[in-house]
Amino acid sequence: MKKYLFAGNWKMHKTQKETQQFFNEFLSKISEIDFSDREIMIAPPFTVLPIVQKLTEGTPIKLGAQNACWAKEGPFTGEISPIMLKELGVEYVILGHSERRHLFGETDEIISKRVEGVYKCGLIPILCVGETLEERKNYKTLEVVGKQLFEGLKKLEKIEAKSIVIAYEPVWAIGTGINATPEEAEQVHLFIREKLKDIFSKEIVENIRILYGGSVSPFNIKDLMKKPNIDGVLVGGASLDPYKFLEICKIRVKKEICMLPDYSAIPFEILEIPQKYKNIVIVGASPKSERPSYIVMEYLLKQGFKVVPVNPAVKEILGQKVYPSLLEIPSDFSPEVIVIFRRSDQVLPIVEAAIKLKPKVIWMQEGIVNEQAKELAEKENIKVVMNKCFKKIHLMSQKYLFK
Ligand code: PGA
Repeated sequence: MKKYLFAGNWKMHKTQKETQQFFNEFLSKISEIDFSDREIMIAPPFTVLPIVQKLTEGTPIKLGAQNACWAKEGPFTGEISPIMLKELGVEYVILGHSERRHLFGETDEIISKRVEGVYKCGLIPILCVGETLEERKNYKTLEVVGKQLFEGLKKLEKIEAKSIVIAYEPVWAIGTGINATPEEAEQVHLFIREKLKDIFSKEIVENIRILYGGSVSPFNIKDLMKKPNIDGVLVGGASLDPYKFLEICKIRVKKEICMLPDYSAIPFEILEIPQKYKNIVIVGASPKSERPSYIVMEYLLKQGFKVVPVNPAVKEILGQKVYPSLLEIPSDFSPEVIVIFRRSDQVLPIVEAAIKLKPKVIWMQEGIVNEQAKELAEKENIKVVMNKCFKKIHLMSQKYLFK
């Protein structure tokens, strides 16, 4: 059974004495934690690892490190080898933390080497990914997270690594007291889970734990842990206080019960693109509430966008008048994004008609894309976005995600 992971990242905090004090308090209460469904890990600074090892001996507390070199030994001044960590009883190693990336210039290339080195030494890498505020504001969250994930794991791909952990830590939420809402976090976690399936087999992916990190506290832990794809947390500030960390580790996890509509593919990228624009046309809009086009339309309307549906067989969807073809939409409505939910044999004439409306973006599904149609649009300087819609990214239910 996959166990939740409640991990503490002490960063550059605590002397030997302070470490002792923390554990005096924390260990006196660990009987309050039910370890049957979870693991508790603490990653202190390197200097106190031997002390923490001694103090936690015979307890279920796992030991983590905050970084590690890829090599077992050698001329790497200032680095610590995974073998040295293993000798101290370390099981987990946090890698690619945003503070390493942003303050110490660690690149995806370095991080991927560390991930591989750590894994090969029999330790469990916790690969951290996450976007900055700037990137989020520019709708780059999924692009950034996807890239960090692929780059960070590229050396493990061939060995189908089994025991890795991913931590989604939006940079804007770290140490700021502003956590991502459970919904925001779940959306990215779900995205990560789907992306992992491009790297590892489905069975492995289902067992990979995806942690959330960024201002986790006793106040928000319960709601975060309700989300189906949040398998644990990486806690910074609050893990320094034995009582706060205990409160977090003790929480009873009750997952939200989510209905899985049988056809709930929704393209993630679409949730980001339109936010830059106001006017959207959906070609092939369906009146059936379980269809992706309906879900997307409902989402966009709720976000306050103007959506014009096109479908020759339907008169009205979600209170919106449906137009039989692109040629018949009102002339004063200039769509900035045209979303096409149509089979490939129908795409070309739709794109030809769409071009005349001079949208900024044409969106279609990767599986059905017709190269000719794509070329045609790009010749007109229209951005073409292709989505792996057929790889079905399951959203739990409309109610659940868009509430
Ligand atoms: P925070 O840090 O909980 O203090 O926001 C999280 C982290 O950096 O892992």
